[in-house]
Amino acid sequence: MKNIYLNIYRPNYINLKKVKKCIENNNVIGLPTETVYGLAGNAYSDKSVKKIFNLKRRPLFNPLIIHFKNLNDLKNDVILNTNFRKLYDAFCPGPITFVLKKKKKSRISIIATAGKKTVAVRVPKHRVARNLLDILKFPLAAPSANISSKLSPTSAKDVFEEFGNKIKFILDGGQCKIGLESTIVDLTGKPSILRPGSVTLKKIQKVLKKKIKIKKNPKKIKAPGQSKLHYSPGIPVKLNRKNAKKNQALIGFGKKFKVGKNYFNLSKKGNLKEAANNLYKTMREVKKKKFKSIAVIKIPNKGIGYAINDRLKKASNK
Ligand code: TXA
Ligand code: MG
Repeated sequence: MKNIYLNIYRPNYINLKKVKKCIENNNVIGLPTETVYGLAGNAYSDKSVKKIFNLKRRPLFNPLIIHFKNLNDLKNDVILNTNFRKLYDAFCPGPITFVLKKKKKSRISIIATAGKKTVAVRVPKHRVARNLLDILKFPLAAPSANISSKLSPTSAKDVFEEFGNKIKFILDGGQCKIGLESTIVDLTGKPSILRPGSVTLKKIQKVLKKKIKIKKNPKKIKAPGQSKLHYSPGIPVKLNRKNAKKNQALIGFGKKFKVGKNYFNLSKKGNLKEAANNLYKTMREVKKKKFKSIAVIKIPNKGIGYAINDRLKKASNK
């Protein structure tokens, strides 16, 4: 049988070398991280970054996250501060992104940062992302590897679904451990959360030893992930439902949730981490099964549940 996933590669040494070449030639690739898969290219190259925007059909005003190997590399491009150091020590490498001021001498493409004076930086934990960063001489610009406003991919096949053979390489790092995008913290002034994630408000406050805010409706949108209709499966999503209508899938959670043809359980054990991990995967599955819309039962708003509800609200255009 013909293998249609010709561009999905095992992340062994030989393939990483090929990918390195490909990226050095200003091309972009599918990269696994512990949160979601990224569409990655040389952050110092306008040419690579333009390709990312074009492939994703991403508006040019929406800046990309820049992925670094470690603190030492990060220092070349952004101005570090005390809050950053505390959070970096506590959570990095890991699923958290920091917005910091850009250094004047930074080489990051101004297209990647949408001309802003700030940069969103992250040091990922996934072994494959780290192995690749280790052999590159530049950081990687990598937004989630999906067409703009759609669901983020959590497996190599999901990335293939988004871009097919338009990219030469998708490195297969398995199913993402977390399955939701990183927490984004703005550290350019008083710390605030721009996008909730698995590193929760509570955990961040504990490290910084102070109360911080989650920006809900900032007047000036700092992270368009905050704008309406995002993370969309491409069919309507209705929240806080108890039952499904005709041609509608019901996504639920926990032991008591019924079993049925149109019922999808995010976590039978009622575990929110597992639910977060299954969220995008389940919505993709529902879409493939040709349901016309999705109803979701109420998901507890604690821990990572807060981030799940954030994504669901945006998917439902609320
Ligand atoms: O988990 C993740 O963060 C994944 C993986 C691949 O690392 N990446 C990701 O990237 O979710 P993306 O582009 O889908 O989301 C990045 C968000 C966008 O909402 C963007 O507006 C925001 O980060 N952002 C980037 N630079 C920013 C900046 N300078 N200030 C405020 N927000 C920024
Ligand atoms: Mg995204």
